[in-house]
Amino acid sequence: MDIKSKAGKNLFQKIIENHLVDGVWSPGSEIAIQLDQTLTHDNGGALIFMYLEAMGIEKIHTEPGVCYLDHNTVQIGYENADDHQYLRAITAKSGVILSRAGNGISHQVHLERFGKPGKILLGADSHTSTAGGIGMIGIGTGGLDVAIGMSGEPFYLKCPGVVKINLVGKPASWVSAKDVVLKVLEIFTTEGNKNTVFEYGGPGVASLTVPDRATIANMGAECGVVTSIFPSDDQTKQFLKGQAREHHWSELPADSNAEYTDQVDIDLAGLEPMIAFPHSPENVKRVKDVAGIPVDQVAIGSCTNSSYMDLTAVAKILKGRTLHPDVSLGLAPGSKQVLMMLAKEGSLYEILSSGARIMESACGFCNGSCFSPKSNSVSVRTSNRNFQGRSGTTDARVYLASPQTAAATAITGKITDPRDLNIAYPAVSMPKKFLIDDSMLIFPPENPRQITVEMGPNLCPPPSNLPLPNDIYAEVTIKLGDKVTTDHIMPGGARNKYRANIPKYSEYVFEVIDHNFYQRALTIKERGEANVIIAGESYGQGSAREHAALCPMFLGVKIIIAKSFERIHRTNLINFGIIPLIFNDPQDYNKLEIGAKLDFSNLQHWISGNGRISFVNKTKNITLTGIADLSSREKKMILAGGAVNYIKNNR
Ligand code: F3S
Repeated sequence: MDIKSKAGKNLFQKIIENHLVDGVWSPGSEIAIQLDQTLTHDNGGALIFMYLEAMGIEKIHTEPGVCYLDHNTVQIGYENADDHQYLRAITAKSGVILSRAGNGISHQVHLERFGKPGKILLGADSHTSTAGGIGMIGIGTGGLDVAIGMSGEPFYLKCPGVVKINLVGKPASWVSAKDVVLKVLEIFTTEGNKNTVFEYGGPGVASLTVPDRATIANMGAECGVVTSIFPSDDQTKQFLKGQAREHHWSELPADSNAEYTDQVDIDLAGLEPMIAFPHSPENVKRVKDVAGIPVDQVAIGSCTNSSYMDLTAVAKILKGRTLHPDVSLGLAPGSKQVLMMLAKEGSLYEILSSGARIMESACGFCNGSCFSPKSNSVSVRTSNRNFQGRSGTTDARVYLASPQTAAATAITGKITDPRDLNIAYPAVSMPKKFLIDDSMLIFPPENPRQITVEMGPNLCPPPSNLPLPNDIYAEVTIKLGDKVTTDHIMPGGARNKYRANIPKYSEYVFEVIDHNFYQRALTIKERGEANVIIAGESYGQGSAREHAALCPMFLGVKIIIAKSFERIHRTNLINFGIIPLIFNDPQDYNKLEIGAKLDFSNLQHWISGNGRISFVNKTKNITLTGIADLSSREKKMILAGGAVNYIKNNR
């Protein structure tokens, strides 16, 4: 037996192999896995169920499938309320559990009530990776992939490389899980980790609670990894026991001689409070080095840092103190469970006494749905993304920090290292029993036949696409730089209410970058030509929103030529029949300008073949080449005009 065959398995590999339905474990090759659970929410949920209908699927096949009403709960106007009513009826009809508005943020509630070590969860949200904190695989993807998964079909992915993040030591007082993951972001940045999984191990793991681990797994998404995972151990058992779900626990370690593609060591004892500067989570600095920057607003919550442990620590810091008069502090508990426990134990009193504003247990400020900062201001937040404009205020400067740093900052009115408060460290122990109240979960009825599904005027059936034409005459409608995020492509915040109304939502494509894009794209489409987008590195960073592919498709975008694509967005483009083409020579980026006329011939042949596509820039009369690196299944989807057509053709 050679040495290689003696190598043990990492945890990710073990879980994948238990769910493998096609392919073999070999990094880089395409595999298909059976799913256990699915997660959807009200930002894309209505579309997902309309896609299931378009594919002729009435009942879902994952156990459980849960749909969370957590993103669009402010409900200015009738649109979101109509969407929620639709989701309430359609989930009941389809066999999906509905978590009502007010019950909390999907990832927090899923961790509390549904996460199980060793299972696989597919979610229509990039932070589905949060589930890795409980020893399960949580993968974020586009809504159409989730719809396909809910139909019982396997999920296809490229077998990733698994990097071990070896934790040693114990974090010092005032150093939290957020500081650990900001350190991870400092090391790995937001680029270049596309087909990678972070697996945490080493002796330092034992000192991290499940909520700590969830925070770390959550923000792995900002590095662009497929997911992050922690072992299931005594900490996991303690958390599940507190949730009255000890029977869902099993011990799941990696083998002691497990193989990894790489290993990075982090000494937790050497970490300090960290903070990410605007406008990217990778702009990480030590708080002590930048302390003193005046702050206008502090927001504590989001799926990253809204647990009972986080907010109890905040309450202890705020106890007996008041906010700085120039600071507005908003605090959104991650779930009804968290809020009720804070209320019962008196922490809510301390928080309110300080002058903080309590927000709903929902996404809220994180995606700009509420609590947007004033113009040209500084906001310190415990959420996971600080992309320009995501807060709802384009010129606001958003910093990302731990709940402890955020609370200290709210008190002093300037960015503050919490150690400088000179108060006793607010230690919080894992509760022996969490407060359990599942009354806001609506379980589907035994016999759903009588349920009537109503669709309000904001709900439009999603547009369909045609099979890929052989020849395309196109124009470059926009030329973008590096790291364009899905927030740039499709704005959130106040625009989120159009998520189920694609013709309306499409009016806002690239609104943050170029107000005229919609009109230009529409004009080109109406001329019978296609729109082409040119982009730099890491196109499509950020959230899993399929609208960043669907709305451009609706406007006639057929091809995006970029230096590189982010994983989830690339999949979404293929799902909607848009070709993700990578420059064969990155210098060719300089040979394409907005307004350039492009000629693509014989596309079906090139896509069916090796994916090398030559096209002519008629404006400069030069021929350029791009590569569409597609699996055989992805080629069929592109040729069919997207996943819906492909599935319908193959049923
Ligand atoms: Fe919601 Fe923000 Fe998380 S929008 S799911 S709290 S990243």
